[in-house]
Amino acid sequence: MRAMVYRGPYKVRVEEKDIPSVEHPNDAIVRVTLGAICGSDLHLYHGLIPDTRVGTTFGHEFIGVVEEVGPSVQHLKRGDRVMVPFNVYCGSCYFCARGLYSNCHNVNPNATAIGGIYGYSHSCGGYDGGQSEFVRVPFADVGPSLIPDWMSDEDAVLLTDALPTGYFGAQLGDISEGDTVIVLGAGPVGLFAAASSWLMGAGRVIVVDHLDYRLDKAREFAHAETYNFAEHRDIILELKRATDYLGADVVIDAVGAEADGSFLQHVAGAKLKLQGGSPIALNWALDAVRKGGTVSVLGAYGPAPTGIKFGDAMNKGLTIRTNQCPVKRQWPRLFEHIRNGYLKPSELVTHRIPLEHIAEGYHLFSSKLDGIIKPLVVPGAS
Ligand SMILES: NC(=O)c1ccc[n+]([C@@H]2O[C@H](COP(=O)([O-])OP(=O)(O)OC[C@H]3O[C@@H](n4cnc5c(N)ncnc54)[C@H](O)[C@@H]3O)[C@@H](O)[C@H]2O)c1
Ligand SMILES: [Zn+2]
Ligand SMILES: [Zn+2]
Repeated sequence: MRAMVYRGPYKVRVEEKDIPSVEHPNDAIVRVTLGAICGSDLHLYHGLIPDTRVGTTFGHEFIGVVEEVGPSVQHLKRGDRVMVPFNVYCGSCYFCARGLYSNCHNVNPNATAIGGIYGYSHSCGGYDGGQSEFVRVPFADVGPSLIPDWMSDEDAVLLTDALPTGYFGAQLGDISEGDTVIVLGAGPVGLFAAASSWLMGAGRVIVVDHLDYRLDKAREFAHAETYNFAEHRDIILELKRATDYLGADVVIDAVGAEADGSFLQHVAGAKLKLQGGSPIALNWALDAVRKGGTVSVLGAYGPAPTGIKFGDAMNKGLTIRTNQCPVKRQWPRLFEHIRNGYLKPSELVTHRIPLEHIAEGYHLFSSKLDGIIKPLVVPGAS
């Protein structure tokens, strides 16, 4: 089969690999019909995630058709059209029993802090991902769901990570009616977090980025007020001014380890890797939230220490909530929102990249060229 393969930082290509086979009675093999590249894949691509091995296939957002099932699989059969959440999880451990699917204790022998994620390095379990023609899906009765007939492929693939993650970020914010919510980052995750904040009762939604084309999308898709941080000498002062000098009730970090906004921090965190990521967006979140407010962190950071202003967080009495998204927990509500027309996730799709040209897709997305917001990956296309 054809599969994207990591060769080292900034180097990916498509190679021939063996089609995965059933290794455990609970496995399914899924033929991928549509995948995507996530902002999280860029952290891998840039060499920021520990134990990203040469030869690994990335891709934690994919849908497909069941090709084969192991003898214990009861709820899926060959030919089923399925969506697969990015989390690999057992469904029955202490954490899964509490809905913490992203923290499953049974799927990742290499780490205790995180569960399993498809195509996300050996520190997340070493599972090959869906930027390929076929994927092995462990615990096939647990993660995947049948795609409802009325749902389009493009909406379904965005339900495997980007949309549920944005929605989860708004949930973690514990938004009360009328709250002011600031979302840092206008990538797919931030845009979905902004749109979801309205559904949870926000009174104002403000999105911050430095890419104007994405801020245009934030106004159009998420009906948000926007700030381009590159146009302000002190973005925190600007955000304080906009919020009666109190700060926002909720701030959502949808940027993570490669944040821009301070040359020194970006170089130290994202380029030289002297700390577990650039803490700029997270510190902006701690600064821009009001005392007693909530900071929701979706952005991914590395395991090493980072220069986070924790003293300020303590003195402001903040609530900080964070996790990798437990994707399937969000599906019932999101299915309804899509069916009712409140959310149309595929509106963020800007590129449909044939798997064979995925290296170009990574380059465009990494460099934020050609108005890119959400690139999908299409196996078999040319
Ligand atoms: N928690 C989860 O389950 C989960 C799931 C998916 C993605 N993520 C993480 O969410 C983050 C965003 O993902 P994405 O797909 O939207 O990525 P993306 O790269 O498309 O978007 C990131 C955006 O942040 C902007 N940005 C950079 N520095 C900024 C700053 N200081 N302030 C405001 N904006 C800034 C960039 O210009 C870009 O538009 C990544 O860190 C990703 O790893 C987490
Ligand atoms: Zn992702
Ligand atoms: Zn589990």
